[in-house]
Parts: sequence; C-alpha cells; structure tokens
Amino acid sequence: MSRVVVTGGSGRLGRNLVAGLAAAGHEVVSLDRVRTAALDVDGVEQVAIDLTDADATAAALASARADALIHLAAIAVPFSAPEDVIMRTNAALAVSVLGGAVDAGMTRIVAASSPTVLGYGNPSGWLPDALPLDEDSPTRPWNAYALSKLLIEQTVAMLHRRTGDDVRYASFRPCFVIAPEEWGGAPTQQGHTVAERLADPALAAPSLFNYVDARDVASFADRLLEALPEIPNAEVFFVGADDALAEAPLADLLPRFVPGADDLASGLTGTAPAFSSAKAARVLGWRPSRRWRTELAAAPTGARQLP
Ligand SMILES: NC(=O)c1ccc[n+]([C@@H]2O[C@H](COP(=O)([O-])OP(=O)(O)OC[C@H]3O[C@@H](n4cnc5c(N)ncnc54)[C@H](O)[C@@H]3O)[C@@H](O)[C@H]2O)c1
Repeated sequence: MSRVVVTGGSGRLGRNLVAGLAAAGHEVVSLDRVRTAALDVDGVEQVAIDLTDADATAAALASARADALIHLAAIAVPFSAPEDVIMRTNAALAVSVLGGAVDAGMTRIVAASSPTVLGYGNPSGWLPDALPLDEDSPTRPWNAYALSKLLIEQTVAMLHRRTGDDVRYASFRPCFVIAPEEWGGAPTQQGHTVAERLADPALAAPSLFNYVDARDVASFADRLLEALPEIPNAEVFFVGADDALAEAPLADLLPRFVPGADDLASGLTGTAPAFSSAKAARVLGWRPSRRWRTELAAAPTGARQLP
C-alpha cells in the first residue's frame, strides 16, 4: 500500500486508474484541472490545479507527501490542439511533474506514453520491421503528440541518469483505452462506439486495432508500483489486450490498411493483436483480464448484440 499521486485523474483513463488503485488499498491524490464526482470515494483526495504552473505543481507534489507518482495528465489526442500547443503542453508537464516528483522526494515514478511513438498512420507511409510490435520496435513519431510522448519517455530516462537507482521509474504505452461504460455504448475517445469500431474496420485501423480495458490498466499500474523496486529501472511497457479489436484476423485486415504488410502480418492469425504485452507478462507477471467479446456480451443495454 502506498500514497500515490495521479495526474490527470479525472480523465478517461485516470478515473478508472485512480478508482482501481484506491480499491486495491492505496491512498490516492488526484491532481487535475477539474474535479470529478466519480472520484468522491474513500481513499481518494482531489486537488484542482493547472499543472502547466510549475510552481503550483511543485507545491502540490510536495504537500501530497506521497511516495509514488503516475503521470497521466496531457493533451491526450493527436491533432486535438495546434501542434505547437500539444508539444509545449505535454513537454512542460513532463518536466514539471516528473522532475517535481523527484524534487518532492518520491521514489517511484511512472509516466504514460503512447503506442503512437512507433509512427503508424504516417501519411507518407509506414511499415514495421516485424509484427507483433513490441518494446524493441523502432520509434518513428510523425506528429507532435507522438513526439511529445517519446519526450516523456526520454524525460524518464534523463531523470534516471540524474538520480541513479535511488528513484525507480517506468513508462507505459497503453493501447486505445476503453472505459467500462463504453462497452455499453458510450462513445469512445474517437467519438464512435465500440460496436461501430468493430462493424467498420476503417475506424479501428488507425490504432492498428489495439485496445485495452481501463480497469486492466489500473491492475497493471498496481502491479507495476509493487514491482518497481525489484525490476530493471526505467523500463518501457506496452499495455494492451490479448486480442485485437476486430472480428477478422489481422493477417487479413492489416494489409488493407498498411500497404505492404502482407508477409509481416501473416502470423497474426485468429484473434492475435498487432501489439505484444509479453514484456509486462514476463517482467511483472501481469496479464490483461478483459476481452471485447466477453465485455460486450456482458454489457448492459445499448451494447451491440454479438453476431
Ligand atoms: N485514452 C487512450 O486511448 C490513451 C492511449 C495511449 C496513451 N494515453 C495517455 O494516457 C493519458 C491519459 O489519457 P486519457 O485518455 O485519460 O486522457 P483525458 O483527456 O481523458 O484525460 C487527461 C486529463 O488530464 C487533465 N489535464 C490536462 N492538462 C492538464 C493541466 N495542464 N493541468 C491539470 N490537468 C490537466 C485533463 O483535465 C484530463 O482530466 C494521457 O497521457 C494519454 O496521452 C491514452
């Protein structure tokens, strides 16, 4: 059990991650520009703050008296703001929040990155070296959001060089996050529903059909916080579901959206995803526990009927 600061705790991922950590017995302090009634629960304290204010951020991190930080706050969607604003905001938050946590004496520091650092979706073309994608796949960001996420990973590496192993770090790349209400028909981050993403593969193709249930990210974070003192420092982890958000095998689907990927994708048969979370299994012993087929089938009214 720890006292954990989560930035961006009111967001789509943050709400579920904070609730999951609190349910696991952690005391959580959520730092976000806005408060949310969803986190008015035992074990959670909410502080309204603009984290682009470095002085206020340093003061909030110090007064939280926490031993761990999970940094989620960001402009979280590519092209949802001008490129310079995304870069400036996410970079400034990385430095003030992650550096501020070190200065506040926290000894476990975790940052949310993104699979987009790999560079898929590049309008000039993109082909991976191999599939499935994993932590050894080369990073080739082509927009400010993806570059800012790589910068967050590099900020973690920079701080590790500065502090050595007195502080334990990790970055994680959550796949397309699906919050529990979205199984029941609430719009996903991109506006359409899960059922619409499944019915029209062109909607999920930009994320290469990746996804993860927000509650599984919470269980990953809980396990990571526990393991940080024991595992290699400043590692990066993909965090995704064990299957693809698609009805057809990716061996058939991917080449339609990633020209030239026929041979590379040929091993993605059955329900295999394009992103591997094997490292999280190997290093942390963590596995996702939710799959779209069972979550959709169990969802209340509004959910699509399975074929
Ligand atoms: N949702 C996904 O599919 C996904 C996938 C990969 C990575 N991520 C990363 O996970 C993190 C969380 O994503 P999300 O989907 O929950 O995003 P979100 O937009 O729902 O939540 C982000 C939260 O950060 C807060 N925030 C932003 N700027 C702030 C500031 N200056 N001061 C204080 N609070 C601020 C917002 O108020 C919001 O509550 C982000 O870092 C995102 O890049 C998300």
